[in-house]
Formats: sequence, structure tokens, C-alpha cells
Amino acid sequence: MKYKIIDSKDLSFFKSILSENCVLTESEDLNTYSRDYTEDLQFLPSAVLVPSNAEQISSIMKYCHEHTITVTARGAGTGLSGGCLPVEAGVVLALHKLNKIIHIDENNFQAIVEPGVINEVFQEAVQALGLFYPPDPASKGSCTLGGNVAHSSGGPRCVKYGTTRDYVLNLEVVLAIGEIIQTGANVLKNSTGYNLTQLMVGSEGTLGIITKITLKLLSYPPYRTLMLASFASAKNACACVSKILSAGVTPSALEFMDKKGVEISTSKQNINFKFGDEKAYLLIEVDAFEIEDLLPQCEKIYNALDQMEVMNVLMAEDAETKEKFWKIRRSIGELVKQISIYKEEDTVVTRSYLPQLYEGVEYLSKQYGFETVCYGHAGDGNLHINILKNNLSDEFWQNELPKAIRKIFELCKQYGGTISGEHGIGLVQKQYLDVVFSPIHFELMKGIKKAFDPKSILNPKKIFDI
Ligand code: MLT
Ligand code: ZN
Repeated sequence: MKYKIIDSKDLSFFKSILSENCVLTESEDLNTYSRDYTEDLQFLPSAVLVPSNAEQISSIMKYCHEHTITVTARGAGTGLSGGCLPVEAGVVLALHKLNKIIHIDENNFQAIVEPGVINEVFQEAVQALGLFYPPDPASKGSCTLGGNVAHSSGGPRCVKYGTTRDYVLNLEVVLAIGEIIQTGANVLKNSTGYNLTQLMVGSEGTLGIITKITLKLLSYPPYRTLMLASFASAKNACACVSKILSAGVTPSALEFMDKKGVEISTSKQNINFKFGDEKAYLLIEVDAFEIEDLLPQCEKIYNALDQMEVMNVLMAEDAETKEKFWKIRRSIGELVKQISIYKEEDTVVTRSYLPQLYEGVEYLSKQYGFETVCYGHAGDGNLHINILKNNLSDEFWQNELPKAIRKIFELCKQYGGTISGEHGIGLVQKQYLDVVFSPIHFELMKGIKKAFDPKSILNPKKIFDI
């Protein structure tokens, strides 16, 4: 596809729609919007537009569609698959000004928000009313709900409460041609034609620009207990996940961390932590509406842990310890990425195959000679594998490592899973999509893309090439 390079006439048009200071072209600004949290990748946009409402976005899209200018939507830029990188330059649409919580409907357990609302700000706003919005990515303090919808983001609570996808009831979307549509309705059930809402969720900005989101809410369970269990083998920790769930309890978090991850997180944050011979940990949280409902859940978990030769179980008795354990877990991703150039895989398998996946990754890391740090949402069968470059050669990193990653993904497929559980395909995983999708899958997806975005101007070169 041949895209138009932005010139002064285009900029004048954008300035006629937005105020002058919402059309950014200074190199410092372009630099800021050229990266996200993915590896060391950088792509400069030609201009950054900062709209405030759907009508402005509609005018921008009509113009960009007519002139074949690419448009890449961006939330907070915390993505891990390169989803918001403007690989064909063009326009970055920075959505942070669309940051209103429009309405929290306590009677109907719903809220309408704009895409630029920060996840944690929203969680706190609904919690103040006794309501609960569970999806909680590690970057919840900075990531936006629009970005969460674009990737169907997850987080630790998904094991009990599901991912972002499970909370999206309806969307307002500006299409590539500039039309503004509602994808569905603000209802809990909807059997009216194709489900465009769920098609849009996880489409990574390739099908439209999300400008309003209707989210489902729950009642907030006020009581929780947190425990940290250590194991002599990572395999046992992984195998314990199925044991816990078959014991008839669904924890509100069931997270895996290997020892290296905990070492990095505690040492980089100066967190006092006593290590022994353990190789891996499970961080397990249960929640409840009544305090007396916590203990029976903990007892079931203890029994399961016992059966899998747990070494030690630390109960977080006070708020400070709870915070410390969560800080260790939530910071691993960010801190491990500070020690080396890295690649992160977001593997997911049918939960009971987690031990086999972990063993397979260990085997491949030895065979190819790379170091990994693994952690993730074990309760969902979702293992984040951070591969560190350390002193490996560029040659290995570019030519050999992709072969090993492909083998990891083949294992995922073999164990009933796929290549991304919550980070998306974006730019960096698209070369592996053929592991799980056949040519027919690609044809179907390309057909959908063409119907929504005939000139392929929305977030080009993401998920697949067209
Ligand atoms: C996490 O679970 O910590 C997040 O998905 C972030 C990451 O893996 O880097
Ligand atoms: Zn995660």
C-alpha cells in the first residue's frame, strides 16, 4: 500500500480541526510518541494529533481516508507487542484527552468511559461506590482503558474474573471512513446480528478508533487473604495450579514467579526477602464478601499445596506485607527489562499443561543457550517468558532466537494454547502467527480488515501484513 507523506497542507487541515497546540511536529514530541514498552523499537510519526472528542476524530479520519494517510491510535504506550508504534509514520492519534468517566450507573452495574481513562483511576472511582472492575494489568497505574480494550488486557484477577473482553458491553467507534457507530447496546445480553463489539475488542486499533466504552461492573468483595508458597521445583509449582482449582476453590489471583524473577524484583527494589533452596513461587489470593468465607478457601488451598510438596507458605498478615508481595510480582516485568535487551513472550496453554510448557522452555533455553525469567498468570495457563540477550551475539539474536521462539509457540499449540494471552500480536509477534493460524484464518481476517478499513490506513502492518 502506498501511503501519502504528510505535508504542510495536511497539517493546516489538522490545525483547522484541532487547536494549534494539539498538532505536534517538534522532534522532541515525535520522539516521545515513537516508542512504547516493547523492546528497543522506535518508529517516528510525521505528526501527533491530540483530539478531545469523537467528532474531531471523525473529521480527521474522513480526511486521512480520503488522502490515504495512516493513523495509529495510542493510549499510554505501555503495550508489549509494539501495537501503537507508527511503523508507516503518518499520524499518531494520542487519546489521553478523552479521559472522562462519563457515567457510573450504580443501578445497572455499568459505566461509560472514554478510552483515555487510566485503569487504576477507574478501579478506584467505582470502588468508592462499592463496585468492582476486575481487569488489572501490571501497568494499571498508567495504562488506559482504551488500550486495555484494544488488547483485551488481563492481569492477575483474570483467573476468577476474566479479561477486559468479559466486561465490554458496547463501544462507540469512529470507523476508518469517519462514520461514528455504536457496536452494540448497553445491555447484558445481545443476540442481534454479528457481535461487532467483541470483534473490536483485541483488534489493536486496526479496525476503528474507540471513543466510548460501556463496561460491566460487579460488587466489590472487601475481604482478601494473600499467601506466598515456595516450591523446590518450578514444575511442582505449575502442577499445583490444577490441584488448587480442582480442590473447589477459585482464587482471585494465582500467579507464578520463578526464583530469578523474585531475585531481580527484590534486589532492584531493596525489598528484604529471605531466599532458601526454592526454585519457584505461587502467589495466591482469595477474596470474599464475608470475612468468614476466607478461611475455608485457604484450607482447601493448603491441602492442595501439601499434595505438591510445598516447601513453605508465607501468609501476608497485614496490609504492608500484602503490598510487598504484590510489589514483588507486579514489578518483575518492568525490572527484568532493565537488566538486558530482551524479548518477551506471552504464552498461554490449557492450564493443566503448564508444567509441560515450563519444562519445554527450560529444555529449549539450554539447547539454544539463552537465559529466561518466567512469571505470569498461572491460573490462566498464561506464562510470560522474558528472554534476556545478555552477551549473546546480534547474529544469534536476529537469526537463531526466532527459531527457538517458534519452537516455544509450537509447544503452546501442542498444549492446546496460542501465542498471546494478553499482550497482543502487534508488530513483534506477527511473524509467528502462522504457527496457530492457517491460510484460511488469514484470508478471513484480511476480509474483515478490508471491510472496516478499505485503504488499510488504521495501524498498518499490525497483526498481519495486507
Ligand atoms: C505482567 O503480568 O507482569 C505483565 O503482563 C507485564 C509483563 O509481563 O511485562
Ligand atoms: Zn501479565
